[in-house]
Amino acid sequence: MSAIISGFSKCSKQEKIQWIADQYFEGATGVKDALCQFLLSDASLQTRFDAFSENTVSNFMLPYGVAPNLIVNDRTFALPMATEESSVVAAASSAAKFWSTRGGFHAEVAGVKKIGQVHFTWQGAPLQLQALFPRIQAAALAEAEPVTANMKKRGGGVLDVELLDLNHIEKEYYQLRVSFDTCDSMGANFINTVLESFAKTLKKSLVAYTQTAPEILMAILSNYTPDCLARAYVECPVATFGEHNGVSGADLAEKFRLAVRIASLDPYRAVTHNKGIFNGIDAVVIATGNDFRAVEACGHAYAARDGQYRSLSHCEIVDGVFRFSMEIPLALGAVGGLTQLHPLAKFSLQLLGSPSAKELMMIVAAAGLAQNFAAVRSLVTSGIQQGHMKMHLGNMLNHFEASETEDRSARAHFQDKLVSFNGVREFLTTLRKAPYAN
Ligand code: MEV
Repeated sequence: MSAIISGFSKCSKQEKIQWIADQYFEGATGVKDALCQFLLSDASLQTRFDAFSENTVSNFMLPYGVAPNLIVNDRTFALPMATEESSVVAAASSAAKFWSTRGGFHAEVAGVKKIGQVHFTWQGAPLQLQALFPRIQAAALAEAEPVTANMKKRGGGVLDVELLDLNHIEKEYYQLRVSFDTCDSMGANFINTVLESFAKTLKKSLVAYTQTAPEILMAILSNYTPDCLARAYVECPVATFGEHNGVSGADLAEKFRLAVRIASLDPYRAVTHNKGIFNGIDAVVIATGNDFRAVEACGHAYAARDGQYRSLSHCEIVDGVFRFSMEIPLALGAVGGLTQLHPLAKFSLQLLGSPSAKELMMIVAAAGLAQNFAAVRSLVTSGIQQGHMKMHLGNMLNHFEASETEDRSARAHFQDKLVSFNGVREFLTTLRKAPYAN
C-alpha cells in the first residue's frame, strides 16, 4: 500500500514520476523511461498537453488513421479516426468505398437544441412561484446578458426557459429547464455558466419577492440531447448489391435486414450492434477533439427512449430497394474546447474541410452508419473473426517480436487460415527452429 500524499498536484512532473516509481515500482529506474518516452520533444506543445488534464506524467497515444472515400451529401471525405481497435478503420473504409458507387451517404440535421437544468427546492407556495416566474425569467435573462451576448451575435443563445413543478416526484422540488442553441460550439461551458448565473438570479429574486430563499441543488447541462439530432441513410436497389464473401446480393440484403431487426428487438444484440456504431462514431469524435463520453451516454439513452434498449439503425427493403438508416443525437462542436487546442483535432477538422457543427454531425452520423454497415455485413457473411483476427495478426506478430521476414512469412501463411494467438506462436516457433522451411 502506498502512503497517502498531499499536494501531489503541486509537485513537478519529475517529482510525480519519482513518487510513482518509489511508491509502486520500488524505485525502478524504468518507470521514468516508460512514461517519458511518450513526452513530446517540443516543450511548448507538451506544456499545452499537460494543461488538458491534471497530474499529467505522460501522453497516452492512440493510432490516428484515415478512412477515405466517405461520400456524404455528394462531398467526399477522408475520415480521421482515433481508435485502438484494429479492424475499425479498415471496416469504415470498406463500407465507405462500397457506398461511394451507390450514391454515398445522405445526411441531415433534424435539430440542434441542447438542454440545461437548475435543480432547486423551495418551501413557498407553488402557485406563488408560478406567478413570479415571468419576472424571475426576465431578470435571469437580463443578468446573464454579458455571458450570452456573443452567442446571440452568432445566432444562438438561450431559446427557452421553463419552470417545472416537480412536487409530485419529490416534495418542494423544482427545475428551471433551459434550452440552448450553441451554434458551432459543443457549448458545455457556455451552458453551465448561463445556468449558474440563472441560479444566482433565481435565489436573489425569490429572497427579494418572498423572503424565502430556494436551496439551489445544482446547475448543469443535460447530456441527454434528443433534439440535437442527425439522420443518415444509404439506399440502393438490391439488384446492385453484389455478392460478398460468397453470399449473393439478394441473400445478403435479406440477412442484413433481419440482423438489424433483431437488434431492434433484442437488447442483448442491440447493445453490441450499437457498440459497433460507436466504434466509428467515437473514433471520429475523439479525432476531432469532441466529448465521446457525452455522445455515448446520450446515444445509449436515446436508444432506450421508448423504454426498451434498441438498435439505433434501421433497415428495410421495399420494392427491391434496400434502405439502411440511423438517427442519432450528437452534441458536437467544431470550435472551442479541444477542437483548436489539440493539434490533431485541429488537423482533423481541417481535413474535413472545416465543417460547421451541423456538418460535423452529418459526417459523424454517416461514419457511424458506415461502421455499422461493415460490421453487420461481415457478421451475416463470413463472420467477424476472419477479418478482425487478420487485422489483429500485426499486434500478435509485434507481441512475439517478429522480424520483418517473419512478419512477411506469417502474413502469407495466414492469408487463407484462421488466425489465433496459439497458431501464430506455433508458426513462429516452427519458423524460428527451421527458418528456411516456409
Ligand atoms: C466489435 O467491436 C463490434 C461488433 O461486435 C459490432 C456488431 O456486432 O455489430 C462487430
